Amino acid sequence: MTTLIDAPHTPSFDLRSLILAAGETFVERAYALEKDAKRTGQGIPSLGMREAVAAAYWQMINEVERLVVGAAANQHREEQRALLALTAPVLLRSEYFARSYLKPQGYAGDYRMMEMMYDLEHQPGEDPYKAPLVNALDYTFSTIHSVRAVWERRRYLRDLIVQEAKERTTPLRVLDIACGGARYIGEAFAALPEGVLSVHLIDQDPSALAYAEGRNLNHWREHVRTQCLPIKTLLTAPLAETYDVVISSGLFDYLDQPTARHLVHTMGRSVNPGGVLAITNFHPEDASAFCKDWLADWPLILRTEAQVAELFEGLAPVILSRSTERSLVFAQSRINV
Ligand SMILES: C[S@@+](CC[C@H](N)C(=O)[O-])C[C@H]1O[C@@H](n2cnc3c(N)ncnc32)[C@H](O)[C@@H]1O
Repeated sequence: MTTLIDAPHTPSFDLRSLILAAGETFVERAYALEKDAKRTGQGIPSLGMREAVAAAYWQMINEVERLVVGAAANQHREEQRALLALTAPVLLRSEYFARSYLKPQGYAGDYRMMEMMYDLEHQPGEDPYKAPLVNALDYTFSTIHSVRAVWERRRYLRDLIVQEAKERTTPLRVLDIACGGARYIGEAFAALPEGVLSVHLIDQDPSALAYAEGRNLNHWREHVRTQCLPIKTLLTAPLAETYDVVISSGLFDYLDQPTARHLVHTMGRSVNPGGVLAITNFHPEDASAFCKDWLADWPLILRTEAQVAELFEGLAPVILSRSTERSLVFAQSRINV
């Protein structure tokens, strides 16, 4: 007689089923919470609902990451596509998840995505004109570690420019490579007296430059110069001018080590003696690397502090620090003091 213990009653799940089960749990939980919110007639969802949707999202991400630990997304393409198809009807209701997934500019991490992330810093998920689940998903997006890190990055760059401008008696000249919407530069202008700052913005996306100039920096247009240029042109024909501060954020995460090193050294040659070069790069400990890679097809080249420091070798000593959530490395170097 076969006892209950002997019986082969444990179903043999394959990886795909386990991944999809994690996705289904998230989708069901999100719809159940939406139903609750409708029943109670909530406009802006309670903090409890927002946190419950975020918790369901992270439970799914952590479960899938645990299942495919150590594997690159392209090793499980089919499972990844199936999970995306399953969760898209929920996740893509949030414009944040939708933009990161759909990439309307044709590439990941476009300037508008950054602008949206910056806007999410204050009262995320509290828009009275949105449905409760959409607000809860927006809130969930704000819990992503790299989103929080770019809020910090924006302040880091703004404070660096303001500090350097305050320490000089002549106007500060700043070069920003891959500037995107240059929000932090607008904030630096706003924090400083008129006429103490001028900037040169470079980006390969003309719409990013138009946005930076026409929106974020409109008030200071006479002190702003824009140039539409891919960095590969910059590497072969470096700029003739020099600057007091040269920065680049959100670019090195896409560059291989030789190109990144070449760019750091090219940037270094554009810094006036005593000036500052600053870059940022996401770190392998970024706890949101997996969800970006898997659910947004947004892989980044992550670097440890040592790998970032290596980019500066032979140029100048570099000071490294990390964002609060440990996702991002900030690197700053004073040239030829
Ligand atoms: C993630 S955004 C960062 C924007 C801004 N620095 C910030 O931190 O908000 C990356 C920007 O890099 C630009 N970019 C990407 N690859 C580039 C390249 N090869 N040459 C010039 N710009 C590039 C994109 O157009 C985009 O505006």
